[in-house]
Amino acid sequence: MRAKIVAGNWKMNKTLQETEALLAELSAMLPDSQAEVIVAPTFVNLQAAQAALQGSTIQVAAQNMHFAENGAYTGEISADMLLSLGVDIVILGHSERRAYFGEDDALLAKKVKTAIAKGMKTIFCFGEELEERKSDKHFEVVESQLKNALSDLDADAWKQVILAYEPVWAIGTGETASPEQAQEMHAFIRKTIAGAYNSTVADNVSILYGGSVKPGNAAEIFSKPDVDGGLIGGASLVASDFVEIIKGI
Ligand code: PGA
Repeated sequence: MRAKIVAGNWKMNKTLQETEALLAELSAMLPDSQAEVIVAPTFVNLQAAQAALQGSTIQVAAQNMHFAENGAYTGEISADMLLSLGVDIVILGHSERRAYFGEDDALLAKKVKTAIAKGMKTIFCFGEELEERKSDKHFEVVESQLKNALSDLDADAWKQVILAYEPVWAIGTGETASPEQAQEMHAFIRKTIAGAYNSTVADNVSILYGGSVKPGNAAEIFSKPDVDGGLIGGASLVASDFVEIIKGI
């Protein structure tokens, strides 16, 4: 059975002290849940987060990484650097990386390949923009994002992949895809993977929804059969909100 997952993407928020405070609060409030819980603080606080979560079931992820083994890439972070801290989950392809840092499908394909080769799990994000949905191109866009970045993976590698469908128009906007829109797209994604590989691969991959998930809408979105959890931005920065969302699984 595929995993249920709630992951918090903290983006460029929280200093070291704030990171420690939020994790202490979250640990104290963490409910019993069938969901795997992941938090993704900024790179500079990953080590402190790992230390703070020693013995906890909460897992730590990075928000990005470079595809190269090492070398002259000023300001970048490699898979081995993350692994040396015990961080073996990485978010790749977030729409903010695509929009503000020019990351395209070809680059993301390289990053995913490295993450898989290094034995890491990747939370791979993708989703259409508002114009694309309005012009009824959302299925086409999502299919090509998946194909361009993930089609080189063999079936076994999919055990290391978590998908996060995040319609760009719903991220940080307060506007959420309706549970029906999320389910419709998630079912389409699963069908696309079944077609490209087989139904075992498709049935076993967790597909998270992301985009303005809040305590008030999480349970309904998560109740849909093909929605296996969420990737949470803003609401993951407040322990009580994040906990309510986890309870929604
Ligand atoms: P949001 O962000 O929950 O603040 O909309 C989601 C994301 O960017 O992963």
